[in-house]
Amino acid sequence: MSHVAQHLIDSGRYAKCVEVSKRIRWDIDRDVIRGRSFDFGKKFLPDALSKVAQLPFLMADEKRLFSQVQGRTYANIFALVERFIGAKVLEISRGHWLGDQTALEALVRLTDEELKHQEMFRRLETMMASGMPLGYRFLPQPNDVATAVLTSSTWAVMALTCDIELFTQVHYRSSIEPEAQLDPLWKDVFLFHWREESQHAILDELEWQREDAKLTASERDVAVDDLIALVGAVDGVLQAQANADAGYFVAHWGETLSAARIQQVRDAFLKAYRWQYIVSGVSEPRFQSLLAALVTASQMRRIQKALVPLAYAMPKSPTFPLPMAA
Ligand SMILES: [Fe+2]
Ligand SMILES: [Fe+2]
Repeated sequence: MSHVAQHLIDSGRYAKCVEVSKRIRWDIDRDVIRGRSFDFGKKFLPDALSKVAQLPFLMADEKRLFSQVQGRTYANIFALVERFIGAKVLEISRGHWLGDQTALEALVRLTDEELKHQEMFRRLETMMASGMPLGYRFLPQPNDVATAVLTSSTWAVMALTCDIELFTQVHYRSSIEPEAQLDPLWKDVFLFHWREESQHAILDELEWQREDAKLTASERDVAVDDLIALVGAVDGVLQAQANADAGYFVAHWGETLSAARIQQVRDAFLKAYRWQYIVSGVSEPRFQSLLAALVTASQMRRIQKALVPLAYAMPKSPTFPLPMAA
């Protein structure tokens, strides 16, 4: 078994990731922050991510605050998911300890980069906190979420990780849309994060497939249920945070709002977060074809069924549901 798994390792793709990772490596202060602070007169998240069009009654100041609150949650969510991604990748790197040393190096570099990203997002959170009204709260605890996620099967965690590392690429593309008019520092955060995440997405794909090759059909069936449960858990986190962020946003809005308007704001936050942290990755053709190659048609239908409610009422999102496995 182990010599078969070893034989399947595509050393060239790991080597390419190591090469690119070394070449594009950046530093938080020297390359990203560069002594700058945020411009609170600008947006932090682009409209394509914040989905501000859902609230057509917002004025310019409110649109900006809507984007900035989501920017702050963006930094916190990434620092949170990178906690379990780093731990999981360190764990699966064990499979390469005495094997392909290039594959091991690629995973060690990924882990090191995720530690750096966590530090960067914590720094950004502190910088945003200094310029925003008091009262913002980020509810989920990174270690609580990581502890729960890491009880799931490796196959499911790698599928979720692949989704996450692919959607950082979608987010970068949204941030460079011509009408974005974002704070320049936030624009750089998207750019630099994407540069390192591009290699991570390739490594997730390789490791997810490597894990898949170890599973029996019935183990994979359990892993599919794990993935559905994980997506549900992520959605639980997003619901709680959308609620908190809607409360914060409404509290700092200049006027008193009707209950119906408050509900609309809450729904808008949740739809935006579901798009940002679940749907924008799983609807990528690359994710869909990876998944379709690993699961049966009936497993794919189970996954689709779990995802469709999250994408509901997002008419501008790419095609849903996912294509059926052959
Ligand atoms: Fe990252
Ligand atoms: Fe990553």
